[in-house]
Amino acid sequence: MGLKVLLVGNGAREHSIAMKIVENDAKLFSYMSRENPGIADLSKKFSIGDLNNFEKLKKYRNVDFAIIGPENPLANGITDYLEDKLGIPTCGPRQNVAKIESSKIFTRYLMDIYNVPGNVSYMIGKSVEDLDVAVDEFGTDFVIKPDGLTGGKGVKVYGDHLTNIHEATKYVKTLINREGEYLIEEKKKGKEFSLQVFTDGSNILPMPLVRDYKRAYENEEGPLTGSMGSYSLPDHNLPFLSKKDYKDALNIIKKTLKALNQNTGEKFKGILYGQFMKTEDSIFLIEYNVRFGDPEALNVLKLLQTDFLQIASQIIDGNLSKAEFQKQATVCTYLVPQGYPQNPVKEEPVEVDPAINKDIFYASVYRDKSTIRTTSSRAIALVTKGDDLESAKIENDRKITQIKGNLFYRKDIGTYL
Ligand code: GLY
Repeated sequence: MGLKVLLVGNGAREHSIAMKIVENDAKLFSYMSRENPGIADLSKKFSIGDLNNFEKLKKYRNVDFAIIGPENPLANGITDYLEDKLGIPTCGPRQNVAKIESSKIFTRYLMDIYNVPGNVSYMIGKSVEDLDVAVDEFGTDFVIKPDGLTGGKGVKVYGDHLTNIHEATKYVKTLINREGEYLIEEKKKGKEFSLQVFTDGSNILPMPLVRDYKRAYENEEGPLTGSMGSYSLPDHNLPFLSKKDYKDALNIIKKTLKALNQNTGEKFKGILYGQFMKTEDSIFLIEYNVRFGDPEALNVLKLLQTDFLQIASQIIDGNLSKAEFQKQATVCTYLVPQGYPQNPVKEEPVEVDPAINKDIFYASVYRDKSTIRTTSSRAIALVTKGDDLESAKIENDRKITQIKGNLFYRKDIGTYL
């Protein structure tokens, strides 16, 4: 097609999007906050800058359209800027509907007001005393959240991040000083899963469900991380979910998008990713993200059969019609620096056998002359598909031996945990 496509972002998620863009014969232009060597090598041209400094995007005004990877620029209105100021059609929600991620209070209210199923019990706290009221209501099963974006760090679960009521009170005081209010939600117990959809605001096409593992060590132990890996299955469902559970989760997304449209008068155009919890009795929405999940993007894009650029342009044009995925399993494993996340070893060299170049996605590494080196964050995601989960995992484990470096990974990713 020879389309010119601008991609904003620089993690493993964006590396996998970049690969899809060039696979579909487009010319890739990238704007990153730091150079991702994988994206840089695929790009016709790239530049580095603050992802929230939209002025820097003026030089890309002759691209055909843009795709936005991370939530932060979306929350700050990058789509509004690209479309209204530069005339660049953009796959990614405008600021007013990106609120569904950037304001957790807005989302809980929205679900309440429009009777969207899957909402948890919650309270908006404005004082320390409000925490006492919440404890009376929820006991010790509660989660404290700031309203805005947290970069994965602001959500504090009682009994996990917060070990006693004194710590909870201290955290609440910090949030009151910073934002004036905070959200307290009832903590739901069960298994989490990720449902991502493509949507033009009217048409909604679901992607295969993905199970994400956020703890650093095997058996879901140790500190929380951005994620250590994920898997998906050939039937696009997960072993702990019935067909009805899947439908219920999709219904929550459909009803939320309708409510969002009614409330704002705008259509959500892009990728909506719901993090859900399956409890003993029901399906609950934990939170929404207005972008692909990381690593969930890697699982689903590995299986995507429909031209990704066709999907992106149909999202923009409002005539989204098709997104087909192979009926195969995927396993994604993150390789991270030894000591991650508390004391990661940085600047260690990493070597990847070129034979697996199409299966690896750089997260947070840098190129020092021709050597790839680690930072303090996750280094490389490796993704493999197979006819079933077992064969995908065996092949993934084999490929891990083709990556050399002072790294570790979770060996239990893809074992039905
Ligand atoms: N998988 C977690 C996230 O993308 O936020």
